[in-house]
Amino acid sequence: MAVKRVRWVVLGTALAGAGVAGALAQATVAPGPNKLEFPQGWERGVLYATVDRPDTKQYREFYTSAEAVKAARDGKPIPDGTVITLAAYAAKVDAEGKPVKDANGRFVKDKLLAVNSMQKMKGWGDDIPAALRNGDWIYQSFSPDGAPNDKANLTACYQCHLPFAKDDYLTNLAKLAGTFPSQAVARPAGGAAEVAIAGFAFGPGTLKVNAGEKVTWVNADDTPHQISIVGGPQRSELMLKGQSATLQFDAAGNIAYICGLHPTMKGTIEVAAKP
Ligand code: HEC
Repeated sequence: MAVKRVRWVVLGTALAGAGVAGALAQATVAPGPNKLEFPQGWERGVLYATVDRPDTKQYREFYTSAEAVKAARDGKPIPDGTVITLAAYAAKVDAEGKPVKDANGRFVKDKLLAVNSMQKMKGWGDDIPAALRNGDWIYQSFSPDGAPNDKANLTACYQCHLPFAKDDYLTNLAKLAGTFPSQAVARPAGGAAEVAIAGFAFGPGTLKVNAGEKVTWVNADDTPHQISIVGGPQRSELMLKGQSATLQFDAAGNIAYICGLHPTMKGTIEVAAKP
């Protein structure tokens, strides 16, 4: 099976040109109670995905309504009123602090750390600064007892989900729609210099190439990743499992990049001048 390649997008140039980049940096959403109330009974919703996070040693569960799942599967907009909840648990760790795995190689859940929700309701986006607005979605982070976490960085929720406007601001619409290719096999693309993405890490973390060479990233994780050049406008589109992205580096220098979805994942491409 051929490796499916994703495209690159250039974010932020239109915004910068219009002078909105500064506004984006300044616009904030204050923490504390808002219109999104604690989603009582969230654990009785449809559990549509789980994810192991080696980078943060967490195990996460995703819940929503049957109506939202049906809409996503039918390719329809997520209905007004939908709440999507992410329950973040600490992963159980061994004596050395390494996450324990079950018979299927998955993390085992320990203590519930936070209940993070997003809810869509007509008009709710009107209260959000334009530079951060995610349509009519708003966000809240609750502690397990149901109180809004007044130290949560709600601004970051909007910033991180904003690039996914075309997926109704969901970072993982494919999982909700049941189209995420979990069975895909990540194969080396061959030829170009390559970075494997596995276990929420880039391998190798630092790759040396010569100016003019191309680098290909291949995602082997059961979750989307995205290459985002630090300080630069370039981002790959989401790479689902088995998908790859390629970028050519023409100028010498050290290029730092992160995963746009999981900023704890960091890598560097060292580009040497043409010999
Ligand atoms: C650093 C980027 C980032 C920030 C900041 C962030 N998220 Fe997310 N969010 C993600 C990613 C990536 C996923 C997909 C699942 C995963 O890997 O954990 C996700 C998934 C979700 C989902 C499930 C729906 C979906 O597919 O997008 C909800 C609900 C959610 N986040 C709520 C929040 C809330 C509430 C906040 C702020 C308190 C927040 N997020 C902040 C990156 C982020």
